[in-house]
Amino acid sequence: MKGTARGLSGRRVVLTGATGGVGRALAARLSREGADLLLIARREGALREFAAGLDARALTADLTVAGTIERVASELKASWGGPPDVLINNAGVFGLAPVAETEASAFERHLEVNLIAPFRLVRLVLADMLRRGFGQIVNIGSVAGRRAFPGNAAYSASKFGLRGLHEVLVEEVRGSGVKVTWIEPSAVDTPLWDPHDPDRREDLPSRAQMLSPEAVADAVCFAIDQPGDVSVEEIVLRTT
Ligand SMILES: NC(=O)c1ccc[n+]([C@@H]2O[C@H](COP(=O)([O-])OP(=O)(O)OC[C@H]3O[C@@H](n4cnc5c(N)ncnc54)[C@H](OP(=O)(O)O)[C@@H]3O)[C@@H](O)[C@H]2O)c1
Repeated sequence: MKGTARGLSGRRVVLTGATGGVGRALAARLSREGADLLLIARREGALREFAAGLDARALTADLTVAGTIERVASELKASWGGPPDVLINNAGVFGLAPVAETEASAFERHLEVNLIAPFRLVRLVLADMLRRGFGQIVNIGSVAGRRAFPGNAAYSASKFGLRGLHEVLVEEVRGSGVKVTWIEPSAVDTPLWDPHDPDRREDLPSRAQMLSPEAVADAVCFAIDQPGDVSVEEIVLRTT
């Protein structure tokens, strides 16, 4: 059978954005399934405490600063001696502002965290995965990477860009044993929405209308837990 075997137990998984809503649900689920986790986020205390509870590795890092990719590389070498089985690009930032009021720095920040950091992590692991003939890269996209919503210029540009990167990867890895997966949720009830108070705004979905982070975690685990010769290229999640 080509590619990675089925099952999550013992799978070496790098997960960014592990202190956030989706990241926590995903890490908890992967841990329960027996995956060997390296969790990455910036908030040291929150990350260390969460990782300790799951018996997972933790790397406190800002994915946008120089030297971080080298630190991730060292951690991978020290922990596993090579690339992970699965890289999950989940860390993300989300701001809301009309284009006319979007600061260039905010626009750049979205591209740095949501698009350039995933690219750098893909670059870090892909060549070794291709050489080895297996591995999986999961990119957490968004409905805003496919549809336009007012106020989403910076976020949408970053997620449309990430979808572009993902789709090129799908074509480039075909036949190699390496898999790439795009998970595309609509709004998810996480701390990402806290600054925007969605339950008080008519133009945003209420929290009750959002997906749960566990639903996103389920979709990711479904995509990872496939036979080696099956690649789930895309999962689109919407509320009913
Ligand atoms: N919530 C939604 O409605 C929704 C919908 C569709 C897609 N998504 C996507 O789902 C993913 C997870 O979002 P979420 O809702 O879980 O958001 P969240 O609760 O705000 O979590 C975001 C995570 O990203 C990390 N992060 C942000 N900037 C970082 C940086 N520079 N370096 C390292 N880590 C960084 C944060 O950790 P630290 O602060 O500790 O660094 C946190 O762990 C994102 O890619 C988001 O775009 C979310």
